Amino acid sequence: DNTQLLHAGVNQWLAPYYIVVMVALTAGTFSAFAQEKFSIGLILPMTGPFASTGKQIEAAARLYMAQNGDTVAGKKVELIVKDDTSAPDVTKRIAQELVVNDKVNVLAGFGLTPLALATAPIATQSKTPLVVMAAATSSITQASPYIVRTSFTLPQAAVGIADWAPKNGIKKVVTLVSDYGPGIDAEKYFKDRFLFNGGQVIETLRVPMRNPDFAPFLQKVRDLKPDAMFVFVPSGAGAALMKQFAERGMDKAGIKLIGTGDVTDDDILNSMGDVALGVVTSHHYSASHNSPLNKKFVEAFTKANHGLRPNFMAVGGYDGMRVIIEAARASKGGSGEALLNAMKGQSFESPRGPMLIDPQTRDVVHNVYIRKVEKVGDQLFNQEFSTIKDMKDPGKAK
Ligand code: DHB
Repeated sequence: DNTQLLHAGVNQWLAPYYIVVMVALTAGTFSAFAQEKFSIGLILPMTGPFASTGKQIEAAARLYMAQNGDTVAGKKVELIVKDDTSAPDVTKRIAQELVVNDKVNVLAGFGLTPLALATAPIATQSKTPLVVMAAATSSITQASPYIVRTSFTLPQAAVGIADWAPKNGIKKVVTLVSDYGPGIDAEKYFKDRFLFNGGQVIETLRVPMRNPDFAPFLQKVRDLKPDAMFVFVPSGAGAALMKQFAERGMDKAGIKLIGTGDVTDDDILNSMGDVALGVVTSHHYSASHNSPLNKKFVEAFTKANHGLRPNFMAVGGYDGMRVIIEAARASKGGSGEALLNAMKGQSFESPRGPMLIDPQTRDVVHNVYIRKVEKVGDQLFNQEFSTIKDMKDPGKAK
């Protein structure tokens, strides 16, 4: 054949050229290997009422790749971003397409609890690791053995403020939560701990998850005159709530606002104005967290995104990419069980502080901070003043 003819035809004069050609061909073969991919399917709400979650997570994922290289084990890391419009059936269909057609190594994102729960069976059936970067209902990690979480859980966030409040003059509370997974977790874990601490919950209110009209609920709270209103609303919804809280003069009537940190989300905090001053919440991340790593993260994120401040969603995305890329490295660009196992037990410093992926539960273990909204210069920040160290999800301590 032609190859044999070529070899046979090489005489001693042509030999040096022959070697050069063979080296070039070999190098070509290796660079073809380098084009092999490690693919991440990132499914997020990029449009609709929860678009800020998608925007924050995508920006953080791209920042992580820019800072930490976009190649693992000789494979090019490919990020495929898809908009699920926050509709669970769309999330599930996109996940299926990413697994079957794009052969992604891992699924990631999941901006809301129903989106993660709808997709869990795809992870299980296809043995594809699924990294939850946003959704925060405790039970999500139990929906598939392939789910790993880098966001947080509502039980983790809620118990901190339930311990702080009764020691600070708050004895009578009305709770107001979004009526779905994370809201129900927040209500239960706040209430149980607050009652245990000697507090009283005089009413529990639930508002619709989508396009809530807070007005009638806030009127009810005003009439009940509690010391404080405990709130959970998903990221982004806090602005509307805070506006109506101020319009009804509830702060002036002496009703304090407390909650998990979702309501004073860093993405929208500055737009809330002085009504937010003094609001105390418990959460795992503040953009003003005082560490060199966080300062670098906030600076780089802000610079890369036209002045946008990263919120807790961004951190879930950034740390999620860390977990994925390091697992890819440890498993030599692996997939399935090998990739999943390399995610379990990862422990590292995040912009939020120290963080661990619990190898048993696949859920995040991290610090929860008590914070108060204060003015720093001309900006509002959640200023951390107390730390509960290395908290596991209380929702799994049976
Ligand atoms: C969820 C969504 C949020 O925006 C948030 O702040 C917390 C939890 C969720 O759907 O799980």
